[in-house]
Amino acid sequence: MRGTREEVIMLLTLMECAVNVRNRGIGRGEERGSEREGSETGRRERESQRAERRKTLDLIKEGRIMKAHVVLYTALVLCLLIGAVFSQKPRPKKPLKPPRATMRPTIRPGTPQEGPEPQEPTDYPPPIHGPPSMFHDCPRECFCPPSFPSALYCENRNLRVVPVIPSRVHYLYLQNNYISEVTAEPFRNATELRWVNLANNLIKNVQKQVFEKVPGLLFLYMERNQLKEVPNDLPAGLEQLRLSHNQISKIPSGAFGKMEHLALLDLHHNKLSDSDMGKGTFKDLKNLVQLNLAHNILKKMPASIPNSLAQLYLDRNNIEDIPEDYFQGFLHLAFVRLNYNQLSDKGVPKTVFNVSTLLDLHLSHNQLTSVPLFNSQLEQLHLNHNSIKSINGTQLCPVDLASPRLNDADLMPRLRYLRLDGNNMSAPVPQDVIMCFRHLRSIVI
Ligand SMILES: *[C@@H]1O[C@H](CO)[C@@H](O)[C@H](O)[C@H]1NC(C)=O
Ligand SMILES: *[C@@H]1O[C@H](CO)[C@@H](O)[C@H](O)[C@H]1NC(C)=O
Ligand SMILES: *[C@@H]1O[C@H](CO)[C@@H](O)[C@H](O)[C@H]1NC(C)=O
Ligand SMILES: *[C@@H]1O[C@H](CO)[C@@H](O)[C@H](O)[C@H]1NC(C)=O
Repeated sequence: MRGTREEVIMLLTLMECAVNVRNRGIGRGEERGSEREGSETGRRERESQRAERRKTLDLIKEGRIMKAHVVLYTALVLCLLIGAVFSQKPRPKKPLKPPRATMRPTIRPGTPQEGPEPQEPTDYPPPIHGPPSMFHDCPRECFCPPSFPSALYCENRNLRVVPVIPSRVHYLYLQNNYISEVTAEPFRNATELRWVNLANNLIKNVQKQVFEKVPGLLFLYMERNQLKEVPNDLPAGLEQLRLSHNQISKIPSGAFGKMEHLALLDLHHNKLSDSDMGKGTFKDLKNLVQLNLAHNILKKMPASIPNSLAQLYLDRNNIEDIPEDYFQGFLHLAFVRLNYNQLSDKGVPKTVFNVSTLLDLHLSHNQLTSVPLFNSQLEQLHLNHNSIKSINGTQLCPVDLASPRLNDADLMPRLRYLRLDGNNMSAPVPQDVIMCFRHLRSIVI
């Protein structure tokens, strides 16, 4: 069969209708999500609707839908009927948002009006409760998947407080709520917790006893909250700590003491200054692999970084200079990012980046006027948006250009990618650069 035009149109109308009914009926629950997550959710939904429609059209074209006429027609009529019912009752369910002050207060006759109506303490919508669970200890505010009983899903539920966590839970999801304080009581029996995700809440404070209850915690995600300092007494076994997008301006002394297993520490987008980077701050983190201090207000390179580090991210600070031997002593340092700082030739010693483990170096959006020297192992160099006027391959080449060693595959400089756009330079790339860096695949000028 040949999907007639008429059928296609009818089907599209039907889908449109179904979508409208859905938006009117259930849509309210998603309001908050889209408010907080921007247009992302909406766009994805529209895309999937479009994809659905395309798929249907294809099906019709392939002639798989037979006798669709009658079925479609019935469905359309039904849908329109349901739609009509919904539009008569625009709020069929309990509204998920609390009545706002803008709603008319009911004025009982005879009672004199006494100022404004008392308001709810917050403007946040009420918590969402799920259907009853097969687990007697599953909190009503959460979802306990029977197939994965060690996980507890309580995200996107408008929660103000942490529910009581059952003792068997290993993985706890509490992101995207309105929790403002984490207290110890709900964690009393949760001694087996491994992961906790509390991202995107309103947390200002974590009671220190919380961490005494969960000695086995490995991952703690608390990015996008309102913390003003790093929580104290974190469990010694922690492996990942994410605290980005808070207002942290203080690291209590000894905050990271004893945390020998911490591999990832993410503090980007906070208000940390040089005074928080005292000699002792990171020294006990003997297994740290990634340290992200980007988007803070540092003027100096942080001191006493453990030599286990592989990734150091310091973009968007106000760093002006780097001590001569700063990168000496690291055993695995491979990725360094210093984009958007205040580095000039004066503050960058000529050989400071000559580090044989370094693979990827980002120095864009600074004030450099010349290209710093680097090791033959370096693969990527980002120098865009500086004030570099020229590049001299003879000076820059980690191996003597005249030496026969340059032809030795093991010694040949590894640079593959070089960005120089946004400087005061123009093509062509000098011949000596091409001669030296034979692995160069891409150079942006
Ligand atoms: C902790 O577990 C004990 C025994 O299993 C139980 O009696 C108690 O109510 C639990 N406490 C909380 C806060 O869930
Ligand atoms: C860079 O470091 C290497 C060792 O990795 C060394 O042999 C070389 O002389 C250094 N280059 C400069 C310019 O200091
Ligand atoms: C590059 O540097 C070498 C050695 O310092 C020098 O001899 C040469 O003239 C320079 N090339 C250019 C184009 O400035
Ligand atoms: C770029 O260099 C040219 C020639 O040296 C100079 O006239 C011009 O002002 C420079 N532009 C910038 C943005 O530095």
